Amino acid sequence: MAELILGIESSCDETGLAWYERGVGLRGEVLFSQTAIHAPYGGVVPELAARDHVRRLPLLFRELQHQTGIQRGDAVAVTTGPGLIAALLVGVQFAKSLALAWGVPWVPVHHLEGHLLAPLLSGELPLPSVALLVSGGHSQLLAMEAIGHYRIIGDTLDDAAGEAFDKVAKIMGLSYPGGPALAALAEQGDPQRFTLPRPMLDRPGLDFSFSGLKTACRLQWERIQDGGSPQDQADLAAAFEWALVETLVEKARRALKETGYQNLVVAGGVSANRRLRTHLGQVLGQTAAIHYPKLAHCTDNAAMIALAASFHLDAGQSPLAPFAARARWSLEEYAP
Ligand code: KG4
Ligand code: ZN
Repeated sequence: MAELILGIESSCDETGLAWYERGVGLRGEVLFSQTAIHAPYGGVVPELAARDHVRRLPLLFRELQHQTGIQRGDAVAVTTGPGLIAALLVGVQFAKSLALAWGVPWVPVHHLEGHLLAPLLSGELPLPSVALLVSGGHSQLLAMEAIGHYRIIGDTLDDAAGEAFDKVAKIMGLSYPGGPALAALAEQGDPQRFTLPRPMLDRPGLDFSFSGLKTACRLQWERIQDGGSPQDQADLAAAFEWALVETLVEKARRALKETGYQNLVVAGGVSANRRLRTHLGQVLGQTAAIHYPKLAHCTDNAAMIALAASFHLDAGQSPLAPFAARARWSLEEYAP
């Protein structure tokens, strides 16, 4: 029985390692964000991400060992997808090397399952539940019937919610990573000043589309730039955030109604957004119990990867085929 699991995350621009003990919880974690490396390029450069994971993983692992006093584990869990393929392969190779050296199993983990289960690192996750998964790469609504059984009931037709935040931030000249910066700017703004579309709200269904909203922001921004003030910028940021939040909340409301479930899990980087949390509480707080990861576990981390593995690790078994890594990978495609 694997008791102490080392989690490894390297799917994008965060390098993370964590010790998770079954029946006990998180024993320690370390995280390095590559923000400064990618900032000059205005977005993540895949090769630079992979190269830095190579450099950083052994250093962080030593740091984690030192911090916790734990030298080795009973299993090594690693994100095998979805994500940047070269970045993923670095983590997988590091995980397999440690597992080989220790003579323990390595466990492939689906990154999005990690996000979905992250609330369990600090609280409860009653099932069945609707999940609103909003990250830089995904915007999905899922019916979570049991751990390992996820049905996608809504998806984005184009950009993900976090991607829309980042792209609009870039249009408005904010530095990478734009999402949190745009959200901070929006707090100073008046969301009513500009009228922006609420994508896909005028028709039934649970799918999203954010590229039209992004274009509407670009057009407004081009107008403002001729003589615009910092207040104009904050007002447009607030209008964008409000349009996106209202759309997410309405779709989550519909998903709860459609499934009849009474729990909502909100996960992924955008679940850190303050306006989203407030509005979800106002609109759905009476209908559903809403569960979030703590702020540090909304964005990418290794604790959620080790936690996800703990559910699948029975005598070294995982429901995922031990292929090396996959860039694109639906949560519905669990290999037997
Ligand atoms: O889950 P995550 O760390 O990485 C992926 O798996 O994609 O999510 C990162 C995304 C980025 O697009 C970032 O801009 C967005 O989450 N994000 C936010 C906030 N914090 C992170 N978006 C809006 N408001 C925030 N406070
Ligand atoms: Zn993520």
